[in-house]
Amino acid sequence: MHPLLSQLNAIAAQAHTALSAVTTLPELEAYTRAHLGKHSPLAQMNKQLGTLSTEEKRSIAPALQALRQELEAHTHTLQETLSTAAMQAELAAQWYDLTQPSTARKGSLHPITRMRHDIEDLFSSMGFRIADGPHIETEWHNFDALNIPPTHPARDMQDTFFLRTGHANTRENTVLRTHTSPVQVRSMLQYGAPVRVVVPGRVFRNEATDATHDTAFYQVEGLVVDTHIHMGHLKATMQTMLERLFGTEVTVRMRPAYFPFVEPGIELDMLYTKADGTEKWLEIVGAGMVHPHVLRSCGIDPSVYSGFAFGFGLTRLTMLRYGITDIRDLFSGSYSVLSQF
Ligand code: PHE
Repeated sequence: MHPLLSQLNAIAAQAHTALSAVTTLPELEAYTRAHLGKHSPLAQMNKQLGTLSTEEKRSIAPALQALRQELEAHTHTLQETLSTAAMQAELAAQWYDLTQPSTARKGSLHPITRMRHDIEDLFSSMGFRIADGPHIETEWHNFDALNIPPTHPARDMQDTFFLRTGHANTRENTVLRTHTSPVQVRSMLQYGAPVRVVVPGRVFRNEATDATHDTAFYQVEGLVVDTHIHMGHLKATMQTMLERLFGTEVTVRMRPAYFPFVEPGIELDMLYTKADGTEKWLEIVGAGMVHPHVLRSCGIDPSVYSGFAFGFGLTRLTMLRYGITDIRDLFSGSYSVLSQF
């Protein structure tokens, strides 16, 4: 027998023994490199073929070729078997019961949202319509129609975010609304009198931020216009709202205050019991009887109709109700804060 042929037999025997010992994919990879790779005995013998006579080549080359094909076929089959087994093992290990109830905390509503829902519910039950208006507001709706003339300090750069571009259609000057009061105007223009609306919404002020101030916060506006509306209706409405929100009897007082769009104007305080048991008056609501100029700007005859309007900080009332002391906690998205609700 040609010495190369018996060498080939030896290589074959060795390769078969080694292959039968392979049980994992990494082992198979090492095996393939060692027995079929560039530096394998098979590859080396292939190189030697070049030095042989045509006769010798004719007897050895087919045997060499056959052995390589046989080994390749075996490793290929083994590769498939092993990777199928590996995948099955992985699937078995990563089995999930999709019907198992989660131990993770479920989602809940943000305190501002809960408060807004409560307010919408209680005003709906008193016959109010929930209204909304744009965040980008014309100066006319935010100021002029509310009896705030162009020279009024409320238009000062300190408070208002003025927008450089005018209204998309009318080119009127626009601002980020500084209060929800422009929706009083929009509601009267849309529905006429009588009207009863409540307006929860975002407002914007160009102010430094601290524990109780943010540049964006939530207000709730209310407006009632009808015949024979007076301050008593306002006081009763505010008292009812606060008692329903806080779930206790509430003492309120009214002090004179100035807002250009009401006359007379008041601030409404609530007697608040602090955690240590002591009591304190807290200013909660700005309100008053709708100014005749405002009614007239909205096409309503002040000799026939009167109305009251109020506005308060939804953010602030939420903080009071839940005992939150830093406004930034409310809007930081902090899990430790939100998970308490
Ligand atoms: N718009 C006023 C504010 O932002 C509040 C207010 C509303 C006062 C309605 C009177 C009547 O402070």
